[in-house]
Amino acid sequence: MKLLDRHKGSQAVSQNWHAELITQAMAEDVGCIMMQHSLWTKYGVTQESAKQRVELLLNQGEYGLGLRCGNKLAAFAIYGDKTFGDHGYLRLLGVDKMFVGQGLGGALLDLVEKDLGEHQIDRLFCLCNSENRGALRFYQNHGYAVVGRLPGWTQPHLDEVILVKRGLS
Ligand SMILES: CC(C)(COP(=O)(O)OP(=O)(O)OC[C@H]1O[C@@H](n2cnc3c(N)ncnc32)[C@H](O)[C@@H]1OP(=O)(O)O)[C@@H](O)C(=O)NCCC(=O)NCCS
Repeated sequence: MKLLDRHKGSQAVSQNWHAELITQAMAEDVGCIMMQHSLWTKYGVTQESAKQRVELLLNQGEYGLGLRCGNKLAAFAIYGDKTFGDHGYLRLLGVDKMFVGQGLGGALLDLVEKDLGEHQIDRLFCLCNSENRGALRFYQNHGYAVVGRLPGWTQPHLDEVILVKRGLS
């Protein structure tokens, strides 16, 4: 399956934002956003490891979608369509600190859901650190339900919460 055909080129989602595919060449910009958030730095992610990870994920066939404000990448999402069977999995979602709380995260999440839904993928899963209260509230406000917990999943002292949204297609 090939997702994102309709995102080829650039698509206006509001007056100030443009959605675009994230390419290998943008991996460094994604890494810059990740370095702004303790969510990733506390997992030991560095600018270089973030860049390499994004390049690898895109190479492996995951999809990348970003929102650009002017000439700056302001938000990014990396996601796939092969989790728990053939369901969607939102692997990474981040907004540049300069733009948080302005609706970009929600707009990008809507676009990811729309893209999957238009390709008959009905459910989107994601993991969220149980201490990341703001992000948990963000997902729940967008219709995600907590369906499980993974104690000590990535680090012994950190739990991950499993969230899912149904009815995308
Ligand atoms: C979580 C995140 C993607 C939300 O994107 P956003 O563009 O700030 O979100 P929106 O403006 O669309 O929506 C605002 C909601 O996001 C949530 N939120 C989470 N962190 C926030 C922050 N630092 N500032 C403001 N809102 C935040 C709140 O629930 C807020 O809702 P409220 O107004 O009812 O409090 C973004 O804050 C971010 O990149 N956080 C760091 C990385 C992260 O936690 N990613 C998710 C990993 S599972």
